[in-house]
Amino acid sequence: MSSQAEPSQSILAALSLEDMLSIYQLSQAIFALHDLKLPEYLHKHDAQPLSALAQALETDATALTPLLEAATTLNLLQKDEQNRYSLTPTGTRLRLDVADSVIPLLHHHRDGYGAWNALLYTLQTGHPGFNQVYQMDIYQYQGQHPEKLAYFNRYMQQTTTTWLTQVVEYYNFSGHVVDIGGNTGALMALLLRRFPELQGTVFDLEQAVCQTNAVLCAAGVNERCQVVTGSFFEPLTIPTHGTIYLISRVLLNWSDEKVVEILKNCRAAMPAHSKLLILDFVLSDSNSNSTIPLLHSLHLGIMFGARTRKQTEFEQLVQAAGFTELCWIHVNETTFLLEASLESILFG
Ligand SMILES: C[S@@+](CC[C@H](N)C(=O)[O-])C[C@H]1O[C@@H](n2cnc3c(N)ncnc32)[C@H](O)[C@@H]1O
Repeated sequence: MSSQAEPSQSILAALSLEDMLSIYQLSQAIFALHDLKLPEYLHKHDAQPLSALAQALETDATALTPLLEAATTLNLLQKDEQNRYSLTPTGTRLRLDVADSVIPLLHHHRDGYGAWNALLYTLQTGHPGFNQVYQMDIYQYQGQHPEKLAYFNRYMQQTTTTWLTQVVEYYNFSGHVVDIGGNTGALMALLLRRFPELQGTVFDLEQAVCQTNAVLCAAGVNERCQVVTGSFFEPLTIPTHGTIYLISRVLLNWSDEKVVEILKNCRAAMPAHSKLLILDFVLSDSNSNSTIPLLHSLHLGIMFGARTRKQTEFEQLVQAAGFTELCWIHVNETTFLLEASLESILFG
């Protein structure tokens, strides 16, 4: 019996090599639908023929035709008997004003699109291609582009409600949770609502927390939560009064070296007997040989100089930062909680 996992056949493997090479055209076509504001226009005006669309969107009708037809084959648009185009339910997600809008993610991928030009740089150096292309890291970039930051924060909020809600059922949160890199406070709001005795602190960069108080107020939990700004690279800014230091979907954005630095800085701020609780995606046997998760891991390299990690890789980093008594809690197929304690020698 072979010890190697069988590579699973990706749906993308059915494409010819020629088609694989041209697949970038798909994202560009979707970016163009968004840039033309076609989804918004069709939402306001119902089904429209080509001529009306071309005029309203200030485009050349001949050039526009293959875009509309391609979007129809992709089930983003549909055509009625009078050849009028309208949005399908999937295409509706290209509107910004729907709850499951993909526009926040679209902006992330558009920035990523430029950064992927520096894939070779990432492969040769291990450093983010993003920084090479944009001459700054992604958080500096967000600081300079508030509209990108707003999209990113909305994406974090959306995915908190779709991916992270189960977390509250898998861990008994008590005492005072410090959410390191807590962003809009969407996860904190979930925790505080589920555990009425819990207190919280959302800790993040100043630029990231502009909506946090509003999110906490809307959830009715603001009286039990503070918002503290600082950086996990500046240990003295990290709150020192927590009983649980939660760090959710942060470490996947940093290299091994930086992860150890972040965790050591948290450890220095943590009171004796407090716990570290990492919530993150883990590369498991079931997703480690599928194309999309592997491309995502490459994407993390290009954007952040990071990658998706296996359980053993997380364990090594957490232990290198001085934590012990590691305990894994399975949340769903790709998401895990890792609880760890401070090494007792620190209090010896
Ligand atoms: C991928 S988001 C995760 C947000 C949130 N924890 C969640 O799970 O939805 C990463 C967060 O780390 C924050 N961050 C980045 N650099 C930071 C730093 N130096 N100090 C504190 N937070 C930082 C970002 O502002 C962002 O909110």
